[in-house]
Amino acid sequence: MVILNVNDQQFELDVNPETTLLTVLRQHLKITSVKNGCNEGVCGACMVLIDGKTRQSCSLSLKKLGDKPVMTVEGIRPEELTIYTEAFARAGAVQCGFCTPGMVISAKGILDQNASPTREEIAVSLRKNLCRCTGYQKIIDAIELAGRALRGEEQFGPLPEPRIGERYPRRDAYEKTAGKAVFADDLSFPNMLYGAVIRSPVARAKIISIDTSEVEKMPGVAAVLTAKDIPGSLHHGLIFNDWPTLIEVGQETRYVGDALVLVAAETPEAASMAVQAIKLEYKELEPVTDVEAAIKEGAPGLHPKGNILSTTRLKRGDVNTALKDSAHLVSCTYEVPFTEHAFLEPESAVAVPKGQEMTLYVGTQSVFEDQHQIAEILNITPKKLRVVNCFVGGAFGGKEDLSVQHHAALLAWKTKRPVKLTLSRRESLMVHPKRHAMKIEMTTGVDGDGRLTGLKARILADTGAYASMGAQVLERACTHATGPYRIDNLEIEGSAIYTNNPPAGAFRGFGVPQAAFANESQMDQLAELVGIDPWEIRYRNALEPGDRLATGQKIDNNVGLKKTLEAVREVCNENSYVGIACGMKSIGLGVGTPDVGRVKAEIKGGKVVLATGAACIGQGLEVALLQIFCQTSGLPAELVELCIADSGSTPASGTTTASRQSLFTGEAVRRAAVKVKDAMGEGDLSALEGMYFDADFEGVTDRLNSEKEDPITHIAYGFATQVVVLNEEGRLKKVLASHDVGKALNPLALEGQIEGAVVMGVGYALRENFATERGVPKQQKMASLGLWKANETPEIEVLIHEGGDLEYAYGAKGIGEIATIPTAAAVANAYRIFDGERRLSLPLENTPYQRKNRR
Ligand code: FES
Ligand code: FES
Repeated sequence: MVILNVNDQQFELDVNPETTLLTVLRQHLKITSVKNGCNEGVCGACMVLIDGKTRQSCSLSLKKLGDKPVMTVEGIRPEELTIYTEAFARAGAVQCGFCTPGMVISAKGILDQNASPTREEIAVSLRKNLCRCTGYQKIIDAIELAGRALRGEEQFGPLPEPRIGERYPRRDAYEKTAGKAVFADDLSFPNMLYGAVIRSPVARAKIISIDTSEVEKMPGVAAVLTAKDIPGSLHHGLIFNDWPTLIEVGQETRYVGDALVLVAAETPEAASMAVQAIKLEYKELEPVTDVEAAIKEGAPGLHPKGNILSTTRLKRGDVNTALKDSAHLVSCTYEVPFTEHAFLEPESAVAVPKGQEMTLYVGTQSVFEDQHQIAEILNITPKKLRVVNCFVGGAFGGKEDLSVQHHAALLAWKTKRPVKLTLSRRESLMVHPKRHAMKIEMTTGVDGDGRLTGLKARILADTGAYASMGAQVLERACTHATGPYRIDNLEIEGSAIYTNNPPAGAFRGFGVPQAAFANESQMDQLAELVGIDPWEIRYRNALEPGDRLATGQKIDNNVGLKKTLEAVREVCNENSYVGIACGMKSIGLGVGTPDVGRVKAEIKGGKVVLATGAACIGQGLEVALLQIFCQTSGLPAELVELCIADSGSTPASGTTTASRQSLFTGEAVRRAAVKVKDAMGEGDLSALEGMYFDADFEGVTDRLNSEKEDPITHIAYGFATQVVVLNEEGRLKKVLASHDVGKALNPLALEGQIEGAVVMGVGYALRENFATERGVPKQQKMASLGLWKANETPEIEVLIHEGGDLEYAYGAKGIGEIATIPTAAAVANAYRIFDGERRLSLPLENTPYQRKNRR
């Protein structure tokens, strides 16, 4: 028997003293504010106070803890916790919220010891807490604010009305900060089983036999499933159905994340023991891990249709003549690696069957995509499967594909009992798709004045084992290869190629960060040849209304690139070691793909309930929609509620991807608000009780290479310029992020998105590389991903520019992706100025920075 003192309560538990404190808090005491982000002492999501000192509870056994008192956020005095929740909400410190309770514990840890810490001291105190969303600046702001409030120097007044442009705090920040937000792994149901998965031991193998007979007899094991137990479709996929739900005996595995057997057991421990006892016979085959090898004559075919998933071609003008006649040419080959999303919340799902129906709780980017694919696997009509989004602990594109939800559903369908399946951090790294590694050959020409004349590019994208969104990512890389510049002669060709590496799919920027690294590196080299500065060459070539994009689309008035450049001119002139890069990103799915935002506004109990199937993955969708609705309808915040992403009660509003929700669902919400306002007339909501108002917005676009003279490939584009300033030692001093956002619905949320994306971009530039060997990821732990900590990040200054005449959603252009697009190139260009070396691959090598920078 172990005695535990948690939040001033004594517990007597019959557990092994070697059990970690995290396991006991979550599994036995159901204290779910303490999160499991890695279980390896790296992320800090499990942070608790022990005798007033911060400790990661996953690294501490009960034996080592002894009789010391433990405090979680639930144990903080209510009035003090209110200060933290207000401070975190009002400072914009909360995005997905998975890291937040751990951050609050660290905040309390320092503020209890030092009532007035400096920003540097706060940053150092957070060095054991990772946040992948915020870039840390706003968390440090929040802790400063909490400190002032605790000292009585700051009072939190009433909130303003949530109008457009207001720095209004997001509602979910309060429950996330207080540890009350429910993520999928926080759920428990009576009679619930735990799932586990056995996966391919190597990247490519032929499965000869799977013997589950012993495992089926093991105590606590409720079900063991192989491919032959799947009632419906054996394959799934977002666009192409090429991903096996379980690999059949006699078939080949294509990567180490391939699932072979599912187990459901009474406890997580029994499930993991069962997985280890399964007997697998296989023949290892030589993996194909290089795109060029994959397309060589005689390469093993990884999919029935061959190793080329897709090819994209774009052609305008006469590029050969343009390049021949250019005053200067630059030709280089760039290489960028796979990178990992590293969202803090590992994938988790709980499937709860009831008769012939099922409810699935998950953290996903699209409840309807999940519903559609899983219903096919279960061979049921989609209506019988309700998919409910829990809070999503970060995604960045990495939670678009099925990872756990279909497997949990299969186990629950078979056992007729609720089943939870949560990936360990290692499994999460192995399973979900990554950012594409690419090889980009690019030749760019300019005339004597530095005006771009032509561009030729060839892109080979490693799309890994399965299609995921690979064809679309490649398309965006190709369509954005010219950057935000006027180039009338171009030939761009790209191929997405299957290999036995982990699948590659959507990741913030969707192929464009890769293309931007190449294009923006070319721009600096061309400037040097012409004899003008890097700012000048960009300004001379910046897109303006009437110019055409690589796709042939004529750009409209919603191009603010020059404004973003003008705002950074002084910083470029004033500093010695400055790198600059620009970026452009399409908004919405575009290229003729059906793309609709939808909402239903129902008047219930004297309030408006806004229901939309759009997922919030941490970006703050709810607050943007609230502001749009309140601004348009004139109703106060207290009369508006939001219900999002439940396939049983909200209308489909497309996947949260492609920076599309603020514009698409935002415009649908604006239209619904107009309807409600019109229906109210001079009256109020009481006359509308029981009524509902549907609204949608469809962005109509043309397919790529359409015959139209003026094709619209995307309905809008975001533009940005970022500047990286190095200090005298070559370390990152500051990043200036200057963004054309159309309209800032909520500047606080916008800044947070940009700051987080910039830190991700800096990581892409200097540290992150999800390398594989024989298709097996070398990084199998969170510690080896090279994620940035609070005390390492540079200062980030965000400059927001509004303008244009976009007629949807008050003119807001999504910001989710673009802020990560120019960063790596700006870092590379800064180092070229610092030491004269032009680096053509990421992460950059031999810089004075690399892991050593500490503020
Ligand atoms: S879960 Fe303990 S440090 Fe990540
Ligand atoms: S808000 Fe910190 S990880 Fe998402």
